[in-house]
Amino acid sequence: MKGIILAGGSGTRLYPNTITLCKQLLPIYDKPMIYYPLSVLMLAGIREVLIISTPKDISRFQELFGDGNWLGMNIEYCVQNSPDGLAQGLILADSFVGNDDVAMILGDNVFYGQGFTPMLQQAKNEAKNGFATIFTYHMKNPQAFGVVEIDKDGKVLSLEEKPQNPKSNFVATGLYFYDNTAIDIAKSIKPSARGELEITDVNIEYLKQNRLKAQGLGRGFAWLDTGTHDNLLEAGNFVQTIELRQGYKIACIEEIAFNNGWIDKEMLLDRANILDKSGYGSYLRGLLK
Ligand code: DAU
Repeated sequence: MKGIILAGGSGTRLYPNTITLCKQLLPIYDKPMIYYPLSVLMLAGIREVLIISTPKDISRFQELFGDGNWLGMNIEYCVQNSPDGLAQGLILADSFVGNDDVAMILGDNVFYGQGFTPMLQQAKNEAKNGFATIFTYHMKNPQAFGVVEIDKDGKVLSLEEKPQNPKSNFVATGLYFYDNTAIDIAKSIKPSARGELEITDVNIEYLKQNRLKAQGLGRGFAWLDTGTHDNLLEAGNFVQTIELRQGYKIACIEEIAFNNGWIDKEMLLDRANILDKSGYGSYLRGLLK
């Protein structure tokens, strides 16, 4: 399975922070925002990742991750000329994905909770059988998201993008697992009233074909927003609280690569030496003890 991180968009809601630096590179406490979605793909065992961003910002991501070798990964890059919708990410990734299944995650989404890795593995297996998986979360203000109506057995009944009168409080988070047909489905949909190729329309097509699963993320789970100044600070505070209390880092991509067996002790130590002064390096060194 291949992975896509969508890290474009204009970031205007975070101005002036995002005038020169794009949103997905802003820090959430001790690491750039994009580490969080990248860590999700890595926990799913996905080693080949395409990062999609704007013409202006793409080189920053290249500077941050290079070819991904230092994580035992293959990371590639692609430009989205204008933010024409999330489903366009699938179309842009066509040749990168080839005949594989694909997981797509938004570059500003933070997930944290027990039992997440088995859920990701499950979604990956469902994709092998031709199913798409969306991850749902209960929200107080569902009308700002893709709303998912679910019956008592967890079966999806309907999907609507930002409805005025939401049919439920459950929304689709920015993480999607698909089989290879997602690319052709994305190519077949038309722009919405707001002029975007909506990922919700891709998911509606899977629903019509009876090939859509919804994985609920329960009350003990954190799916955090980073869309406003307040949200961003709250996300940083959340990560800080957990990390200081537990002594474990959230979304430490080097740790995940090491645990996955993608990098060895020497590679981890090299990285620790580079990051020594920030304390991040001593955390990595601690993993070797
Ligand atoms: O966060 C989950 C929600 O994400 C879902 O519930 C919705 O169904 C889905 O449509 C999406 O809604 P948003 O309106 O919140 O998406 P937004 O336009 O804010 O884009 C999300 C991120 O993706 C943002 O960081 C910018 C990036 N992006 C967006 C577009 C439209 C791109 O990289 N390219 C794009 O073309």
